[in-house]
Amino acid sequence: MARAAQTELMDGGLVVELGPGTGSVTRALLATGVPEERLVLVERDRYLHAWLKGQFPGANVLLSDARQLDQLLPAGQAGRVSTVVSSLPLNSLPRNERAEIVRAAFRVLSGNGSLVQYSYGVPSPLPCEALGLTGQRVAFVAANLPPATVWRYSRASV
Ligand SMILES: C[S@@+](CC[C@H](N)C(=O)[O-])C[C@H]1O[C@@H](n2cnc3c(N)ncnc32)[C@H](O)[C@@H]1O
Repeated sequence: MARAAQTELMDGGLVVELGPGTGSVTRALLATGVPEERLVLVERDRYLHAWLKGQFPGANVLLSDARQLDQLLPAGQAGRVSTVVSSLPLNSLPRNERAEIVRAAFRVLSGNGSLVQYSYGVPSPLPCEALGLTGQRVAFVAANLPPATVWRYSRASV
């Protein structure tokens, strides 16, 4: 997931992670060279939020719901996001909640920005056509338990 995000970092934008939890993907993002001050972490669990603030003091760690992402970023930062990395279990969310999260993500993403999402299933975890997106399978991690696929989504019109 971190490698899939890294390729989107050319233009000096921000990287947003949704549902960073205990920070394993966050650490991988830092390890691939994403500067901490360009990371925005959105976690709705207050205990995990406090933990993340302690672990990543240079990042912008927000206690909020991913559905509100487009209302959370400071003025001028919406539209400057290169990648939204979703560590959320999107497949197990109700369809309307999943669509709200995806819409909020694409409201803050730059024109050619992308959403990175893992899945444990074979088909795309997002209905691309209904959401106006194109999806690309960018990695398959057989050693994960269960084996996982990483998807990258962009606007279909770009
Ligand atoms: C699968 S876990 C993330 C695992 C993470 N990679 C780790 O290293 O711990 C999903 C996380 O998303 C958070 N979460 C679930 N729904 C959310 C939402 N709507 N907005 C923000 N965070 C959410 C949960 O609190 C949880 O921490």
